[in-house]
Amino acid sequence: MVSTNGKPAPIKVRDKFFRLYLEKEQIDRIVGGIAGRIDMDYQGKLPLFLGVLNGAFIFASDLLRKVSIPCEISFVKYSSYQGMASGEKINRLLGLNETIRGRDIIIVEDIVDTGLTMAQLFADLKAYEPASVKVACFCFKKDAFRENFTIDYCGLEIPDLFVVGYGLDYDGAGRNFPDIYQLDETL
Ligand code: IMP
Repeated sequence: MVSTNGKPAPIKVRDKFFRLYLEKEQIDRIVGGIAGRIDMDYQGKLPLFLGVLNGAFIFASDLLRKVSIPCEISFVKYSSYQGMASGEKINRLLGLNETIRGRDIIIVEDIVDTGLTMAQLFADLKAYEPASVKVACFCFKKDAFRENFTIDYCGLEIPDLFVVGYGLDYDGAGRNFPDIYQLDETL
């Protein structure tokens, strides 16, 4: 939606205002690029995508529909964020299982912030002895990152902003916006 000054209208999610950061057409191109790289890297393999709920459900469904090699998908549920801050304690809300053993895993995450959630998932995955583990994440907050794992397929590096839309939420709300919006405390 466009406001009277010709700029895209800001959105309100709960008590905060957000302005447009990335349009769905750009998101679509970025996801297509990641899918193309995965198609090339996993020729002749049957990767198991592992989506991290809740945030990654939209990115995972878009990515899967753009990948053209045979593949499977499963989900885990991890949570660390409270409101707009990344928590120290990771809650595992839906677990891993035996289907991981010997598989080529591609973790699908909406956003990597401190990296704590992903580090915990890596540690948990080890116990199930996958053949390989790579990470695809849509947004990466490089300046907030505190871990040292590699992000194999990174959609977009963003500054340390708080963003919503495209699966990302503020306190459970805002996941349904097709574009990505950044917090704007001046509005
Ligand atoms: P990390 O453990 O600090 O890397 O945080 C990862 C999780 O925090 C992601 O899966 C998101 O659910 C959430 N998160 C991190 N940054 C944002 C943001 O800007 N908006 C919404 N959720 C976020």
